[in-house]
Amino acid sequence: MSKHSNIVILTGAGISAESGVPTFRTKGGETYWEVYEDDLVPKYHRVEDVCTPEALAADPVLVHRFYDMRRAALAAVQPNAAHQALARLDRSWSGDLLIVTQNVDDLHERAGARRLQHMHGELNSALCAACEARAPWPDPMPPGQPCAMCKQPALRPDIVFFGEVPYGMERIEEALAGCDLFVSIGTSGAVYPAAGFVQLARRFGAETLELNLERSAGSGWFAQSRLGPATQLVPAWVDETLAD
Ligand code: APR
Repeated sequence: MSKHSNIVILTGAGISAESGVPTFRTKGGETYWEVYEDDLVPKYHRVEDVCTPEALAADPVLVHRFYDMRRAALAAVQPNAAHQALARLDRSWSGDLLIVTQNVDDLHERAGARRLQHMHGELNSALCAACEARAPWPDPMPPGQPCAMCKQPALRPDIVFFGEVPYGMERIEEALAGCDLFVSIGTSGAVYPAAGFVQLARRFGAETLELNLERSAGSGWFAQSRLGPATQLVPAWVDETLAD
């Protein structure tokens, strides 16, 4: 790949898969998330059951419990070589760089990444549905927790539900407009607006590279696709980029 100045990197669930964080889409393209019921028997929920404003209103106990389970699972996983390689690139890269992650885990931060935008929210954060204040929240969050700012019993998981507006879109679009390399890592290209970033980057004249375990819905938009596990592809790509 030729020398670059400004890079935008999009990551999805595939970059955390080798850390033991489950991805979302089964082979059949259905979206299931595993959630442990009280009897600890894994039970699958469809995304409509747990990741929409309607689901939160209809069954707050289920939705809060689902995110409590995913938040608690973070304690048992570690960043992998792909997260660490991106953090190394972030530390060493003198040009503009933005890691845009669809993931709500904290593995990029724990690996040391700084120039990072969580566009679908974060498990370790609470959002007040009344005043929109945010607060760090590493613990279980029963429905009706009081907000420290407005005192309303209105805290919810700080997760962008389907039908809600992803975070940081202005910052992301500005970075895409100014980048000369767009790299997508571990995402199926099934969910917009993230799935459309490669087209935007191309329109702005950027080179495009996909690093993924298998061909994705977006592979056809990339000038180059490298297939394999992120823990192999990402460190190799970072070494190549820093050696340019
Ligand atoms: N290395 C690289 N890629 C991998 C690995 C791996 N070890 N394991 C899986 N993948 C790839 C899969 O081939 C798939 O293309 O990662 C992708 C994961 O796709 P999804 O499970 O659809 O996850 P993602 O693309 O992040 O989903 C986007 O959808 O459900 C919503 O909000 C949720 O942020 C999520 C969004």
